[in-house]
Amino acid sequence: MPIDINEILNQTRDKNFELFEKHINPVLAKVLRITGFNRSWIRGEGSYLWDESGTRYLDFLTNWGVFNVGRRHPTIRNALQQVLDSDFPGWIGLDAPPLAGVLARELTKRTPGNLDIVYFCNSGTEAVEAAIKFARASTGRPCSVHLTKSFHGLTTGALSLSGEQNFRRGFEPLLPNNLELAPGDLNGLEARLAQGDVASFVFEPIQGKNVNILSNEYLLSAQNLCRKYKTLMICDEIQSGMGRSGRFLACQWIEGLQPDIICLSKALSGGYIPLGATITRRAIYDSVYDSMDRATVHACTFGMGNLAMAAGLSTLTVLDDENLLARANENGTRLRQGIEAMVPRFEFLKGVQQRGMMIGIEFGKPNSLPLKAAWAMTNKIDENLFTQAIVIPLLEDHHILTQVAGHAVPIIKILPPLNIENNDVDWFLSAFEDVMVKLHKFPGPAWEILMKISNHALSTKQKENRSTAI
Ligand SMILES: Cc1ncc(COP(=O)(O)O)c(C=O)c1O
Repeated sequence: MPIDINEILNQTRDKNFELFEKHINPVLAKVLRITGFNRSWIRGEGSYLWDESGTRYLDFLTNWGVFNVGRRHPTIRNALQQVLDSDFPGWIGLDAPPLAGVLARELTKRTPGNLDIVYFCNSGTEAVEAAIKFARASTGRPCSVHLTKSFHGLTTGALSLSGEQNFRRGFEPLLPNNLELAPGDLNGLEARLAQGDVASFVFEPIQGKNVNILSNEYLLSAQNLCRKYKTLMICDEIQSGMGRSGRFLACQWIEGLQPDIICLSKALSGGYIPLGATITRRAIYDSVYDSMDRATVHACTFGMGNLAMAAGLSTLTVLDDENLLARANENGTRLRQGIEAMVPRFEFLKGVQQRGMMIGIEFGKPNSLPLKAAWAMTNKIDENLFTQAIVIPLLEDHHILTQVAGHAVPIIKILPPLNIENNDVDWFLSAFEDVMVKLHKFPGPAWEILMKISNHALSTKQKENRSTAI
């Protein structure tokens, strides 16, 4: 008997949080409840989501940058439908899937330098794991350098390159002898590379956790050092790639930057099927797959699936056909200019980091006394709290999904679909203005939200402490 997915969805409409809490992640369920993200979504299309009451939301979270072309894009859906309807077989195991060959060729055409070969996997962290292993095999060296505030994924190898202590705690020791450096620290980089044991320098051209756009001068100098000491450059474009920055890859904003390995995932498959890719040079590959008995020495069962490959190919087509790189630049510039125009009016608002549709809105200490006191009190309770006073009302009052950029950074990040309309830009800007007006009234409703969250967090902590003590 065929299963009826719609019927299952209907039956579980009011039970999704109960199921999630019981069988998936009780702590995340709690976070969703406190922050108001405990909604039951029933529809997604383009830049919008709808909840069960029929309310429409603007999705500027996009599952952390997956929906560059929006949800349910018809071109991608059509390509997937063709695969489902065809009897062409996939995952033979020992074969050379043609769609994978075509997607690999198309990706290498779009990347800088002479990268000509692609390893396909299923996620961002897997693409980074492959890059770490390829660099080790190619150089015969064990170590890596990564940057403060970096994020490259949560499997053990990728986590070793994370500059976020919060993610590492409880899982250490990770891969040994990796060095973390502040972006811009070229002396530190040279001193470490000169030791001759560093396989890779790993970076995001725009760091996702604080929307930090690394400078051209820094990355080109780092490239010179890497070439001098024969260290490979791994460029993580998992969030910043696929047109997000207004170029196909964010590293393409920097003339002359030619990483040895590039990692892609997230938006690569148009929001339908998990897909990751590690793009590199034949010479590096040859050091990994160095004999016939090692032809699959790095591989994964579900790599190169027909659905994922068709999704990847059709996503590239949509980026080209809809001129999405130019649209990302236009929309991103409008958003930045709109927010920047508010900076003189709002003391907490400090500025905007923007490249294409990767946008960080920065907050900081105000000047006037009551607001200064509110800022100090909030940060004393929890350094992660302040940004919730922006994200929560944007969702509750204006139906816009956004995110806190990272741990203990006063930045909210927006990653809208690249093809949003002008009225979506206006929707966001007027909502943001309203939230700013309310935030600058202390005491006021924005601060009440924060107090509610902090009381909740405190009482949870106390309960946890009590149970640990017992
Ligand atoms: C820059 C970057 N690298 C790697 C990853 C890990 O990707 P995944 O969650 O698919 O493993 C992410 C995910 O947010 C990312 O933003």
